[in-house]
Amino acid sequence: MELIIQRDKEAAALLVARIVANEVRANSRAVLGLATGSTMEAVYRHLVQMHRTSKLSFAKVRTFNLDEYVGLAPEDKNSYRHFMNQHLFQQVNIKLDNTHLPDGCAADLGAECRDYEKRIEKAGGIDLQLLGIGKSGHIGFNEPLSALKSRTREKALAPATIKQNAPFFGGEAKMPRRALTMGVGTILDARRCILLATGETKADIIAQAVEGPITSMVTASALQLHPKATVIVDEAAAAKLKEREYYRWIFTNEPEWEEYR
Ligand code: GLP
Repeated sequence: MELIIQRDKEAAALLVARIVANEVRANSRAVLGLATGSTMEAVYRHLVQMHRTSKLSFAKVRTFNLDEYVGLAPEDKNSYRHFMNQHLFQQVNIKLDNTHLPDGCAADLGAECRDYEKRIEKAGGIDLQLLGIGKSGHIGFNEPLSALKSRTREKALAPATIKQNAPFFGGEAKMPRRALTMGVGTILDARRCILLATGETKADIIAQAVEGPITSMVTASALQLHPKATVIVDEAAAAKLKEREYYRWIFTNEPEWEEYR
């Protein structure tokens, strides 16, 4: 795992967007794993900007999102399909047929999850997976105790997640209690993983995920098992990390990061 600290949340989001843009420029048919949540909005804003000003093309890109709420139709403004259409898909030249999210309204949710795994496999697997982190330590909706080998399936949301996301729904009572999510194992199969976390409210959970033990209680910690996982944070989210100076040294000195400095 690598940990990159950026000055502020804007710089952190821009770095993530530049990595995604380079992936797409190197492979026009790239398969991107995408994430939702307020942290990702700035990443998509930068990608839209790059599409408009520097001809970044999504014409052949395929995408698979991490998760979707159970029971929310695509047109529901709180669905992740709506979020993706609004923040990225409708603003770039991607073909909507090439964008995939699990269908939280499917008649048979188990079959939908199995089919989602097959669709990812048929696309050749995920080249680059974007991730946020919830306050419960989740990636996707892999709440505490999710098996580290889990695949796409239905999960009950943890109280911390319901509390964190309820404001978008106008209160906890109106929020779905379940979601479909790629499993931790599905995520670990991606060829590269990039997790973005910003703000002081993420400092504790980032320290646990990065420097703590690998545990199903904090599913983001499973990224420690991944051969190419990068965690990008701003100073606020880095505040509780013990080895901050070492991580800064890596970004300033390693040749791999030269083009991003
Ligand atoms: C939701 C998503 C997660 C995401 C999290 C972060 O819970 N299911 O995949 O990591 O939001 O949210 P935010 O960026 O708003 O903190």
